[in-house]
Amino acid sequence: MSLRTRLILSYFLIVVLCLSIVAVAVSLMLQGYRDRFAMQRLDDMTVPIYVQARSLARGRASLSEVWISLEEQSQRTGVHILMVDGDGGIIRQASPSKAAQLESFQLPSEGLSPDLSDPYRGTHVTPEGQSFVFVAYSMAGLFTSEVSTSPAALILAVPRRGALILWAGVIRPFFWAGLIGLGVSVLIAIFLARSLYLPIRRVTAAAGQMAEGKYDQQVPVSGPEEVKKLALSFNRMAQQVKVSQQRLRDFVADVSHELRSPLTSIRGFAQALLDGTANDTDTRLRAAQIIEDESRRIIRQVDELLELSRMQSGQIQMARQPVDVKELIGLCHEVFSVAAREKRVILRTELEGTTPVIGDTDRLEQVLSNLLDNALKHSPEGGEVTISSREVSGEWVEIAVADNGPGIPHEQLSHVFERFYQASGVRTGTGLGLAIAREIVWAHGGSIEVSSTAGKGTRFLVRLPTSPGSSPGQRA
Ligand SMILES: Nc1ncnc2c1ncn2[C@@H]1O[C@H](COP(=O)(O)OP(=O)(O)O)[C@@H](O)[C@H]1O
Ligand SMILES: [Mg+2]
Repeated sequence: MSLRTRLILSYFLIVVLCLSIVAVAVSLMLQGYRDRFAMQRLDDMTVPIYVQARSLARGRASLSEVWISLEEQSQRTGVHILMVDGDGGIIRQASPSKAAQLESFQLPSEGLSPDLSDPYRGTHVTPEGQSFVFVAYSMAGLFTSEVSTSPAALILAVPRRGALILWAGVIRPFFWAGLIGLGVSVLIAIFLARSLYLPIRRVTAAAGQMAEGKYDQQVPVSGPEEVKKLALSFNRMAQQVKVSQQRLRDFVADVSHELRSPLTSIRGFAQALLDGTANDTDTRLRAAQIIEDESRRIIRQVDELLELSRMQSGQIQMARQPVDVKELIGLCHEVFSVAAREKRVILRTELEGTTPVIGDTDRLEQVLSNLLDNALKHSPEGGEVTISSREVSGEWVEIAVADNGPGIPHEQLSHVFERFYQASGVRTGTGLGLAIAREIVWAHGGSIEVSSTAGKGTRFLVRLPTSPGSSPGQRA
């Protein structure tokens, strides 16, 4: 069942339910008044008839003369008019046209009060089950001389349809009120449903488009709060999917581009070996050496690439333990001192502060190794590489690796952390070292920056938190 049908149906039910409750309550309330209303109505109709009959009798009019007038009244007003003797036996009866004749009446044994304002009132049910309300007025002392059985009472009766009439009167406004209420509520329901299902339909359509591979989907944010949230979440998701699709495409393009040149060179040298172009032992050895070097580099590149992608998708868990920065730098110094000596580069350390950082020793060593490797690689013979550390307001530890190499041109600075980026253009490494380093630092909740002056050198600055509270990752 659609949302619209549901809404309209529920409105319909609510309106019908409310009206029924009110109708039942009102009719219960009116039940008590029903007979009083009927009696009141009877009095209104009958008092004038009785008064007229009495005054005619006082004016010496005969019973027959009075009766003619009464019959006329009965026809006109629809009131049954009866004259009964003291036992309730009917002497004369005037019924409105087509109305049934009434049988004997039960009158009170103590007799009727002669008081006009206090007539006897009662209900009468015919053998057919027709119900009447009646009033009985005393006729004692009137027409005494004329008839053998002088009439004791004048009875005026009307069918007890009062209740039904009352009911119809009550139900009709409810019926109309209900009809109007229904119309209005259905309109509101349609309007409400529109504001709900239109945005939802748009999201559904957009999601369908995405399923077909059209990732550029955004839906307008409108409607009730929840629907707005749905649209917002959808837009965010669509944006993310689009971005990650683009990333994937870039990644595949980068990787194939990156692998293409070493593979081409491998194939070239392999061909030379095969077709005999490399005909002397030296050339053959050189070709084999290049093939070996290139394939080794490709393997390294693929390994690092896998590592980077695992890090970026959060698959690599970092330990979160206190790491003694002095110890860490000391270790790196030791590892790189051999290479530095070979290149006649002075490797210095300047260490301040004792607060440990929180993180993964092996991964942080990997970061420093990458930075030191780069610094040594780009340092001129006789150059100087400095590793320094200092504390910043007890919350951070800054580790800097600085060299006095050729530096990185300003316009390339922002790219050095990108994967495969090799500023010098010469493919000496994999171009992944700094990308991996940045990923590790981010996973520690830290940051990494580079500054460089052409001809003067380059400085990488790593900032790591000393408390585990910092949330990892600064990736945008
Ligand atoms: N200390 C440095 N001095 C000059 N250039 C640097 C330095 N460190 C990094 N670079 C530049 O940034 C590029 C990316 O470095 P990296 O990601 O470690 O890759 P790789 O070392 O494999 O080339 C390097 O190719 C180099 O051009
Ligand atoms: Mg490197």
